[in-house]
Amino acid sequence: MNTIKSYIENHKNRFVEELIELLKIPSISADSEYKKDVLLTADFVLESLKKAGCDCVELCETPGNPIIYGEKIIDNNLPTVLVYGHYDVQPADPINLWESPPFEPIIKNTKTHPEGAIFARGACDDKGQMYMHVKAFEYMIAEKNLPCNVKFMIEGEEEIGSKSLSWFVPRNKEKLANDVILISDTGMISNEIPSITTGLRGLSYVEVEVIGPNRDLHSGLYGGAVANPINILTKMIASLHDENNIITIPNFYDDVQELSKDERNEMSKAPFSLENYKRALNIEDVYGEKGFTTNERNSIRPTLDVNGIWGGYMGEGAKTVIASKAFAKISMRLVPNQDWNKITELFINHFEKIAPKSVKVIVRAHHGGQGYVTPIDTIEYLAASKAYEKSFGKTPIPQRSGGSIPIVALFEKELQSKTILMGFGLDSDAIHSPNEHFGVWNYLKGIETIPYFYHFFSELWVK
Ligand code: BES
Ligand code: MN
Ligand code: MN
Repeated sequence: MNTIKSYIENHKNRFVEELIELLKIPSISADSEYKKDVLLTADFVLESLKKAGCDCVELCETPGNPIIYGEKIIDNNLPTVLVYGHYDVQPADPINLWESPPFEPIIKNTKTHPEGAIFARGACDDKGQMYMHVKAFEYMIAEKNLPCNVKFMIEGEEEIGSKSLSWFVPRNKEKLANDVILISDTGMISNEIPSITTGLRGLSYVEVEVIGPNRDLHSGLYGGAVANPINILTKMIASLHDENNIITIPNFYDDVQELSKDERNEMSKAPFSLENYKRALNIEDVYGEKGFTTNERNSIRPTLDVNGIWGGYMGEGAKTVIASKAFAKISMRLVPNQDWNKITELFINHFEKIAPKSVKVIVRAHHGGQGYVTPIDTIEYLAASKAYEKSFGKTPIPQRSGGSIPIVALFEKELQSKTILMGFGLDSDAIHSPNEHFGVWNYLKGIETIPYFYHFFSELWVK
């Protein structure tokens, strides 16, 4: 019988080639122009699960993009692992900043990835990480090494808020019943310092519109005498943080769980170099809420950020004009226990209240979701920890992430199971940015670690 290590050695070229094929399909969920490619990708995932050894695979229709479901049930007395991932990707723009086309994957060596990294949109988020699970499963089937039941649920709308999955999960509770949910859609500290993601932030995403006069005006004839929506919008946005970078929306922090001194102390032991952090981003200094470290600011603290702002004349040259409208997209990252609906409401009320009479304000709520924390005193965390020990030779560090996978909190609510986040990406892999990539080493390490998790989890599990 082959071990996972020798299986990878024998098949790694094919594993990489298959992922490259998957990455060639531009499954951009945000853009309806790519609907056909989204469906092609769903088919690709379905076929790959079938080939890897699922007994039953299904393309589940939803109001939006299909969900691919597959399962291998070997014994009802054994535990069941539910694997979740997403086959959709972020848009590739700004396209001119890519060194190679986003949907023509190539392998390049980098400083962080001396053994090569695959450059393509979705390489790390999440096609590469999702596909590790398909290949790990292929191994367990091929080498008769599957210790438990497996269910796969791979969706195509994660990057746009998982609307169809929120519709699907409550309608398929029995089908999705499981003992643990396993997801690789996050990162780790570095290839030398493995970590397990133990927290995700929640999210509230809104779009604001500030409306002034009924038409664009000459900025000489009217400037200074009527409210300029862009001036007003920027002033309003600036007022959302105080001089200590604390968010000023009343009651915003009411439900924030403060960490104890001990917990913060524990967190601060995770290896982190502020100098390297600044160098990697080419910034002179960091910035953020007073009284918290960089790692705290980007994980255990809520934030408010403008993601886009526009209005007025943006073409070439100068045009003297006061625009009639100004817009911004604003995201708030939330911490566990903050309810995203409540925060959205607080934002709307506050933003309407601080608007001067001279403008009208419309706030539209986009998607959102709750945060999540994985407890570390469970058999699934222990199993994951042992799996990393076996593949990396080091005990992984539990670390809360700043990113969001809103569906994880819904899984817990609807399916009553905990999620283990075994992410193998690095922050420097540029997810959502130009030149996204995923280390070949990371890809193969993920494939190696996953079967160990299945093994330890099944061993520790008692009915
Ligand atoms: N995989 C990411 C989330 C992530 C990345 C979490 C790295 C932790 C570490 C996911 O695909 C994503 O991009 N989520 C969005 C939210 C979603 C509702 C669009 C995010 O975090 O912005
Ligand atoms: Mn993702
Ligand atoms: Mn993403």
